[in-house]
Amino acid sequence: MLLGQELLLAPIASADPMPTCSRHQGCHLHPLPVPGAGPNHLASSAGAISSYALELNLKNSKNATCLYAKWRMNFTIDYETTSKSNKTVTISDLGNATYNGSICGDDQNGPKIEVQFGSVFSWTVNFTKEKSTYLIESISFSYDTNDSTTFPDAKKKGIFTVHEPVAFRIPLNDIFRCNSMLTAEKKDVIQHYWDVHVQAFVQNGTVSTKEFLCDKDKTSTTVVPVTPTTLPSPTTTPAQKEKPEIGSYSVNNTNGTCLLATMGLQLNMTQDKVVTVINIKPNTTDFTGSCHSQTALLRLNSSNIKYLDFVFAVKNENRFYLKEVNVSMYLVNGSVFSIANNNLSYWDAPLGSSYMCNKEQTVSVSGAFQINTFYLRVQPFNVIEGKYSTAQECSLDDDTILIPIIVGAGLSGLIIVIVIAYLIGRRKSYAGYQTL
Ligand SMILES: *[C@@H]1O[C@H](CO)[C@@H](O)[C@H](O)[C@H]1NC(C)=O
Ligand SMILES: *[C@@H]1O[C@H](CO)[C@@H](O)[C@H](O)[C@H]1NC(C)=O
Ligand SMILES: *[C@@H]1O[C@H](CO)[C@@H](O)[C@H](O)[C@H]1NC(C)=O
Ligand SMILES: *[C@@H]1O[C@H](CO)[C@@H](O)[C@H](O)[C@H]1NC(C)=O
Ligand SMILES: *[C@@H]1O[C@H](CO)[C@@H](O)[C@H](O)[C@H]1NC(C)=O
Ligand SMILES: *[C@@H]1O[C@H](CO)[C@@H](O)[C@H](O)[C@H]1NC(C)=O
Ligand SMILES: *[C@@H]1O[C@H](CO)[C@@H](O)[C@H](O)[C@H]1NC(C)=O
Ligand SMILES: *[C@@H]1O[C@H](CO)[C@@H](O)[C@H](O)[C@H]1NC(C)=O
Ligand SMILES: *[C@@H]1O[C@H](CO)[C@@H](O)[C@H](O)[C@H]1NC(C)=O
Ligand SMILES: *[C@@H]1O[C@H](CO)[C@@H](O)[C@H](O)[C@H]1NC(C)=O
Ligand SMILES: *[C@@H]1O[C@H](CO)[C@@H](O)[C@H](O)[C@H]1NC(C)=O
Ligand SMILES: *[C@@H]1O[C@H](CO)[C@@H](O)[C@H](O)[C@H]1NC(C)=O
Repeated sequence: MLLGQELLLAPIASADPMPTCSRHQGCHLHPLPVPGAGPNHLASSAGAISSYALELNLKNSKNATCLYAKWRMNFTIDYETTSKSNKTVTISDLGNATYNGSICGDDQNGPKIEVQFGSVFSWTVNFTKEKSTYLIESISFSYDTNDSTTFPDAKKKGIFTVHEPVAFRIPLNDIFRCNSMLTAEKKDVIQHYWDVHVQAFVQNGTVSTKEFLCDKDKTSTTVVPVTPTTLPSPTTTPAQKEKPEIGSYSVNNTNGTCLLATMGLQLNMTQDKVVTVINIKPNTTDFTGSCHSQTALLRLNSSNIKYLDFVFAVKNENRFYLKEVNVSMYLVNGSVFSIANNNLSYWDAPLGSSYMCNKEQTVSVSGAFQINTFYLRVQPFNVIEGKYSTAQECSLDDDTILIPIIVGAGLSGLIIVIVIAYLIGRRKSYAGYQTL
């Protein structure tokens, strides 16, 4: 939609030796002083997503976040050896990265992120502000072939730097997201970036949850979702969000399977008027739980869900229901969103049976969080031999039977149909749902 957002980091000039300045030799070893702004503070945010290789929450002198980024990257470098053969160095473990030199920016200098891994590699990205947008301007990557441990027998020794003009233009106060792989390839260096979230010029110290997607993510969400962490952009999510895949979850105790659940789950979060809808992907979601005589727990978690608990309880010694939902999610801006409600009353059915609802149903946990379920079937108690018992079906599903009949029968048949529906409704229990 916006201009200037090219998909790839277009390669330009080939790697040049850069003999002047290196981290190795002590250049830019400390954050640059920001005139009139005091020192910058680096902090990794609380509850950080450990699965992000790199995460930076850069704060200004007032201790307010000015720049936030989490991302993954790796590099492959080819070099020539003294024996005229070629060797390849790959860098993918960036666990010990430091961020010295990263700055919030001021009137003279734009913000930048500087990353060092070991003394051999350094990486920089800089940003500029425009009227209503900001620009991820360019990326530089340097490596030092003087290091004979990393680059044994390198023929050309020196510091080599590759520059990539990026020119991603992002609306101010939006967080840029690109889960898809971005690749920059040159003669000697291949750079990969993915799972990128970055916001420069953060306003009022609050990192946005409003995402601005790279083009690759836009197409990947409408065609094939490529990554488990794919979150839809509030601005681009169409109303007809695709249905979630159906997952099968179970909990075992010493006697075997004690809880069964089969369902498609869609989470709907609202924060600062921004709605985020997330489909749970069963094959990248883990589940655990526990079973007791009066309560049962099913807990899901994934890369962006810290935990999602469904707590079931028994009432009047003859029925079960969903009593509590307790959820904690990682937001794109590095914060954690948590909500619990232990006073719910959903999915009510007799003990010894299962609860079933094929139609979309909504569990409203709070004004800001609801769960849409699809093709739901649960049995949190009295599971025998790992199989569902007779299903008690939700009233929504009854409509699917009634509506075509009503339409077909027309007005004249309506009274008869209502009588039949009433009789069906009274019988309520349906036998024989062993598969969906
Ligand atoms: C980089 O910063 C870390 C702490 O953030 C510090 O321990 C280290 O000495 C710094 N490295 C250099 C080369 O200044
Ligand atoms: C970089 O990461 C991508 C995606 O995870 C992977 O396919 C590739 O093999 C990695 N390359 C290196 C050099 O580790
Ligand atoms: C960003 O970095 C590139 C490459 O190092 C440089 O040419 C450009 O002037 C920098 N821009 C700003 C605003 O510092
Ligand atoms: C930041 O704060 C100012 C003044 O309080 C307000 O006018 C502005 O809308 C805020 N910006 C954002 C993005 O919240
Ligand atoms: C992330 O976004 C939420 C909701 O807009 C906000 O409450 C929170 O302060 C933000 N986190 C950061 C680190 O700015
Ligand atoms: C396992 O089954 C036995 C016999 O039905 C029962 O007494 C026991 O409480 C069960 N154990 C658990 C953990 O449910
Ligand atoms: C539970 O036990 C059944 C066999 O009783 C086994 O097939 C299944 O994999 C177990 N599930 C879990 C989550 O451990
Ligand atoms: C998500 O929740 C909002 C606010 O409750 C609601 O307006 C919207 O229709 C919901 N979307 C979905 C897909 O459930
Ligand atoms: C998850 O499921 C999708 C389609 O159902 C499949 O394409 C993908 O490879 C699966 N991913 C994993 C990690 O199993
Ligand atoms: C779920 O949580 C467990 C334990 O905290 C963790 O080991 C696992 O990696 C998580 N699963 C996913 C898909 O993130
Ligand atoms: C939600 O779960 C967390 C973590 O297990 C727990 O600390 C918290 O007390 C729970 N909240 C409610 C209302 O149950
Ligand atoms: C629980 O919900 C019921 C009805 O939904 C309400 O009457 C009751 O006050 C609620 N209790 C609490 C502790 O919120």
